[in-house]
Amino acid sequence: MTRELRVAVVGFGWMGQAHARAYARLAHHYPDAPRRPRLVAVADTADDDRLVRARAAYGCARTYADWRELLEREDVDAVSVTGPNDIHAEVGTAVAQAGKHLWIEKPAGRTSAETRAIAAAVDAAGVQSAVGFNYRNAPAVARAKALVEEGRLGAVTHVDVRFVSDYAAHPQGALTWRFQEAPAGSGVLGDLVSHASDLARFVVGDIAELVADDARFIAQRPPAVGAASHFARGGAGPLVDVENEDYVGALLRFAGGARGTLSSSRASVGEQCTYGIEVHGTQGALAWDFRRMGELRVCLDQDFQDASYATWFVRPGDGELGAFQPGGGIAMGYDDLKVIEAERFVRSVAEGKPYGATIHDAVVAADTVDAMRTSVAERRWVTL
Ligand SMILES: NC(=O)c1ccc[n+]([C@@H]2O[C@H](COP(=O)([O-])OP(=O)(O)OC[C@H]3O[C@@H](n4cnc5c(N)ncnc54)[C@H](O)[C@@H]3O)[C@@H](O)[C@H]2O)c1
Repeated sequence: MTRELRVAVVGFGWMGQAHARAYARLAHHYPDAPRRPRLVAVADTADDDRLVRARAAYGCARTYADWRELLEREDVDAVSVTGPNDIHAEVGTAVAQAGKHLWIEKPAGRTSAETRAIAAAVDAAGVQSAVGFNYRNAPAVARAKALVEEGRLGAVTHVDVRFVSDYAAHPQGALTWRFQEAPAGSGVLGDLVSHASDLARFVVGDIAELVADDARFIAQRPPAVGAASHFARGGAGPLVDVENEDYVGALLRFAGGARGTLSSSRASVGEQCTYGIEVHGTQGALAWDFRRMGELRVCLDQDFQDASYATWFVRPGDGELGAFQPGGGIAMGYDDLKVIEAERFVRSVAEGKPYGATIHDAVVAADTVDAMRTSVAERRWVTL
């Protein structure tokens, strides 16, 4: 019989519940997974019914207001850290020091220093780690990476990465933890640029140098009501200052010589969640947009001029699609990317070696975000 992996979640908002669902669904999609996760504990401080939901809908036996009590339990093997960014360093470090494996949401720490502290604790304890860079897990992205590596685009010349959202476009949008420096660490930098830079690095390679600019489009917002989602409208009461950036634009130089642009915004009307990458090479190009997750626009092996794109609909054999659907063109969803992340995490634990994005990938993303902050503050190019 497959051994159990007893898992717990700290922070039971959007991501905490997405992790819980991913653990629950793992065996449905990966019947041969080397461990079968069982959710044994959840901690959350919210003053609403989410811990009741953890018990009723997710079958979790024990719930806590204080995550420290959860970590004292000996029957917890692995912990998902899915609270706001300001608890990540303290909880993530404590999870590793307790000898438990760590699945932590991006951006891991609020800064590079916090993220490195978590990585050091993971390394010292010899536990496995996973980080929520879920866009890597899309089958079309796996195919894109393979096409670049196989040289089907020729030599990569330039790359455009856009992570552009509208979740903060409404001026009455609630001032949740994401808009304040202490709990979030940064605005769109930690939230979306961490994803964007990881995706670019995953598909194309390391970023070596950058120069960045930022902007805050909405200076004040109404206060959040309770543990409101960042998609919610704010409540009554005086407006509160937004403390971090809504937008970042950057020029990139990749270690392999390619040039790039990265733009990211949380306040772009009409964009919803346009999270994507375009890669251009001497003999081809490709483009991917998360909203059309199963489609990869490709222009491959070309004779330079007059070529056009065609659309490749992912099919079994592309990344992990075959674990979810039996044929090509059948759509996957966001939560499926979390199931793939869970599978890699569980396999890492079972085999004692990493699969998928780890805390060390989060360190690289955090260094990139820190470099952008330095570039904005000092108005200059920064070498990574
Ligand atoms: N990978 C992705 O695509 C993705 C998407 C969204 C969020 N995230 C990341 O996930 C993390 C959580 O974001 P979210 O959108 O789920 O936020 P959220 O606000 O929906 O949930 C956060 C939860 O943490 C709880 N919490 C706050 N302080 C706590 C404490 N001290 N102990 C225990 N629980 C506490 C809150 O009550 C809430 O339930 C963030 O780091 C965010 O950057 C990643």
